[in-house]
Amino acid sequence: MIILLCIVVLPVVLLLVTSSRQHGKCYIGGSPLPPGPPWPRLPLLGNLLYRCPTIASLVDALRRLHADYGPVVTLWAGSKPAIFIAGRDAAHRTLARAGATFAHRPPSWSFGLNGHGVNSAQYGGRWSLLRRNLSSHLAGAPLAGALQSSLSRLVSSLERAAAAAENHVVVPSEMLRHAVFSFFASLCFGEGAAEDVLRQLRGVHAEILSLVIELGAFHLMPALLEVACYFPKCRKLSNAQKRHHATVMALISARRQRNRDGVGAGRRRCYVDTLMELRLRDEEMVSLCWEFMNAASKTTSTALEWIMARLVLHQEVQRKLREDIARRGEGDENGNCTANGERRSPFLEAVVLEALRRHPPAHYLLAHTTDKDAHLDGYLIPKGSVVNYGVADIGRDATSWTNPDEFLPERFLEGGEGYGVSVTAGSGSGEVSMKMMPFGSGRRACPGAAIALTVLKSFVENLVTRFEWTPVGAVDMEEKPGLVTEMRTPLRTCLVVRPHVQLNM
Ligand code: HEM
Repeated sequence: MIILLCIVVLPVVLLLVTSSRQHGKCYIGGSPLPPGPPWPRLPLLGNLLYRCPTIASLVDALRRLHADYGPVVTLWAGSKPAIFIAGRDAAHRTLARAGATFAHRPPSWSFGLNGHGVNSAQYGGRWSLLRRNLSSHLAGAPLAGALQSSLSRLVSSLERAAAAAENHVVVPSEMLRHAVFSFFASLCFGEGAAEDVLRQLRGVHAEILSLVIELGAFHLMPALLEVACYFPKCRKLSNAQKRHHATVMALISARRQRNRDGVGAGRRRCYVDTLMELRLRDEEMVSLCWEFMNAASKTTSTALEWIMARLVLHQEVQRKLREDIARRGEGDENGNCTANGERRSPFLEAVVLEALRRHPPAHYLLAHTTDKDAHLDGYLIPKGSVVNYGVADIGRDATSWTNPDEFLPERFLEGGEGYGVSVTAGSGSGEVSMKMMPFGSGRRACPGAAIALTVLKSFVENLVTRFEWTPVGAVDMEEKPGLVTEMRTPLRTCLVVRPHVQLNM
């Protein structure tokens, strides 16, 4: 017993005592790392996980740490430094000016389905090929038909739900999500996928996401612990992945068959067509389809729900938006257009941007890392650290925005402080324009940003034109932190159908 005590317990106690003395500053090779909290750093565990075991607790802790230590702080995910950047200036200097150094991703265990995706690909030739393929598909995709069919189905289901509900009170979340999912499914798999197949695919997506360990997905867990956390779920996960594989392969095979038979020759190409041309293996195609549907639909539908919640909460903004949309026939000289080439309301764009600033669906980026040691404000960012960015903090920074917590779309109109701000703040733009980054920035910035904005504008325009959205009691704007930050309480609203109007895509 005494021997056991000497061999096991004493060294652990000694390690705990010595590590608990590592207050604040930490040096590697004589260079200081960005400051961090005086939390004891436990062997193997680091200090992040036992203080912030969930995303919600991490968000709270980071808010306090940034207030105490400034915009760049270090925590420890096991033996790896995890560096969090919450200032636009530091974000610009790393993601834009030192873009190539910070464009790497930490190696992934790929317990999920994303082993072959663009986002998990190492910065290099394969990533570049897949990313170019996705971007050019999105840039060239004709959207009007797909938007029209998902929107008209959405409008009908909202009308039915409102007519059937007492006092026309509905919870539209599920319908909004399904419509956005169906829209992206038609871009991914082509039009014509059966409704029950789409519902099945959505269900299995939700099931897999519910099994993902969120801190692991942000690369904030020591590898061994991540394996241990996944172990009890691995049967369920592998089961769900098999069903996902089968559903996606059935959609791919149907597409392949139709292409072979020449059915609908001259039809719009879908993402799967482009993947087949790249001659990828089935497993790679399934992974890329998972990424497409997952990256596109959860984020976009979450943004849509936040926007509609804001429009319910701020009735005067909803009225102004409706009036501006009605006037849009007059157009503006910037040629703000719909997917059909018609003019589009500048206030609509302002509402969408303000919602993305105030409620970015992703409060953090996907984890970045560096391929070499880098320096920031005299601090070392060691090669291989996990680096992430406080997207929500940057968008709500009081040094960039007046009354940052208020919802004021006017700030994005000509002459306002947000006018001309780029949502992806690419490498060419200065830190002044990096006042918000809901889609990330630099080389890894979201390739779907432009299409997401088009889809959001189109959905919002049609939803406020077709219905009046009024509050039912208080609108709860509380956030539910996660990989995507959703509304804690799904929006409840009274929907009144307006006199019939043509849908605008
Ligand atoms: C409102 C909607 C969306 C939001 C808020 C959003 C946000 C983001 C963010 C924050 C990142 C991480 C950037 C980084 O790590 O630096 C990202 C990456 C990515 N997004 Fe989006 N996204 C949206 C829609 C889409 C759409 C529509 C697609 C595709 C159809 C898409 C595909 C991707 C991909 C493939 C990546 C990984 C890029 C890479 O690693 O090179 N996203 N997105």
